[in-house]
Amino acid sequence: MRLSAAFREQFIQHEMRTHGRKNGFVTAGQEARLLKWLPKIGLPKAKTLAMANIPQDSPIVLEIGFGNGDFLVHLAEKHPDWTLLGIEIYLPGVAKAVGRLEDAGVIERVRITQLPAQYVLTHQVAESQLDGVFINHPDPWPKARHHKRRIIQKDFALLLVSRLKPGGFLKLASDIPELAEWMRDILDHTEGLTNVAGDAGYVPRDEGRVMTKFEERGLKAGRKSLFLHYVKV
Ligand SMILES: C[S@@+](CC[C@H](N)C(=O)[O-])C[C@H]1O[C@@H](n2cnc3c(N)ncnc32)[C@H](O)[C@@H]1O
Repeated sequence: MRLSAAFREQFIQHEMRTHGRKNGFVTAGQEARLLKWLPKIGLPKAKTLAMANIPQDSPIVLEIGFGNGDFLVHLAEKHPDWTLLGIEIYLPGVAKAVGRLEDAGVIERVRITQLPAQYVLTHQVAESQLDGVFINHPDPWPKARHHKRRIIQKDFALLLVSRLKPGGFLKLASDIPELAEWMRDILDHTEGLTNVAGDAGYVPRDEGRVMTKFEERGLKAGRKSLFLHYVKV
């Protein structure tokens, strides 16, 4: 890794394992883009979202686990008034996303962090600060003994609700039926959230929604994704 120690300390915050993968290396070109953009759009550990120079009247929408950034680009292009906060713990994903966001000309409306979502929401995002949250195809952790590593847990659901504005949305997708059901069961029983599809329901796929890498991977394996939509009451 050629990023300087000082840069790493500020923006590359940990080497946490994701579902079966370790953080890898970034290419020289990606490194140059990280060095160019993270000082402008990175959210370092010591800063809160309130300190991130977001235009006052811009809705703030979060994507957790943005992977290679395709969905962030899609959201930024579709909603020119939104500011997006992207959280992704996998460094090569962050590096790819920064390139795609720059190429699409939307990067200045995005803030990015490599810290785990649990940390960011607890320490850097204020109560009722978010207009919406997307979580697309979170890691399934299929083995029963690993279920505690799944991102949607009772406490995390309450944390999400507290960070949403009243009327704010939470949208999730999964191509793994068991995980979709797990998320739905927890979120249907989380105080402050209403399932737009009614109890135990899934919503249709949003029209015009971009296909993420994991939605595509699921489809190729014969799995049609399931979609959840909640609103904070
Ligand atoms: C299965 S991938 C899905 C990527 C992308 N959303 C998609 O639909 O193609 C899940 C992503 O969530 C990230 N992730 C896992 N735990 C996370 C956490 N606690 N905070 C932020 N990102 C996380 C992983 O690094 C991984 O890139």
